[in-house]
Amino acid sequence: MSVQPPSAAAPTCSLDDPRVRSVLGRLYAETRGQIFGIAGLSFEYARDWALGRKATSEIEAARLRDLYVPLNPKQGRLVYQIARSIGARRIVEFGTSAGISTIHFAAAVRDNGGGIVVGTDIEPTKVARARANVEQAGLGAYVEVREGDAQQTLVDPGGPVDLVLLDGFKALYIPILKLLTPLLHTGSVVFADNIFIFWRTLRPYVAYVQDPRNGFSSVTLALGTGTEYSVRL
Ligand SMILES: C[S@@+](CC[C@H](N)C(=O)[O-])C[C@H]1O[C@@H](n2cnc3c(N)ncnc32)[C@H](O)[C@@H]1O
Repeated sequence: MSVQPPSAAAPTCSLDDPRVRSVLGRLYAETRGQIFGIAGLSFEYARDWALGRKATSEIEAARLRDLYVPLNPKQGRLVYQIARSIGARRIVEFGTSAGISTIHFAAAVRDNGGGIVVGTDIEPTKVARARANVEQAGLGAYVEVREGDAQQTLVDPGGPVDLVLLDGFKALYIPILKLLTPLLHTGSVVFADNIFIFWRTLRPYVAYVQDPRNGFSSVTLALGTGTEYSVRL
């Protein structure tokens, strides 16, 4: 058995690029500073549940205006790695917030040789913030952040989709997945965040992707607050 010598040029992982590391480091530090806001948010959700109230995308976005609630660093690393392993060139993201997940995806797209991350957020201040953060990370050429409700902004993401992140208003996970399904191909990956904390709202979503009749193979990972990892069959 022959042993391959290490290649002369070290392979690239843009997550180790100093500009990317610096922006992600700052954004995660800012996220840690939002702990009291997150506690307040949990209270709002508990009150909705106790009073039998249903939020809307607009109410949810207003509550999250000053909170990033991003994928955590392990989830970020995982989505980067999977985007690399499938060679993702077009990634669609429902719920961009400050751009933390977007930066992980854009790093993968750049390392895959080019492509686009189509992000979207309904909250204009988040869109501006995400665009600035992506630029600062040096990844602006790989990202388009669309402002508005994902039900409209993601109608045409521009071509076949290799990877999707569902991380916006939870009641829209199934409608957004159905909107994008015609653009998925065998091997496309769909991540959905917050499965455990929104288990009531997301139970139909999990049932949908875990039902083989709907064309996915899917497993819930105990990562972050629950990550549904689905592959298009
Ligand atoms: C959990 S945050 C996204 C975090 C981001 N994916 C990350 O990892 O950095 C959810 C975002 O979804 C946005 N959002 C909620 N409903 C939306 C909708 N209908 N269309 C677009 N964005 C929406 C909110 O404004 C909020 O910024």
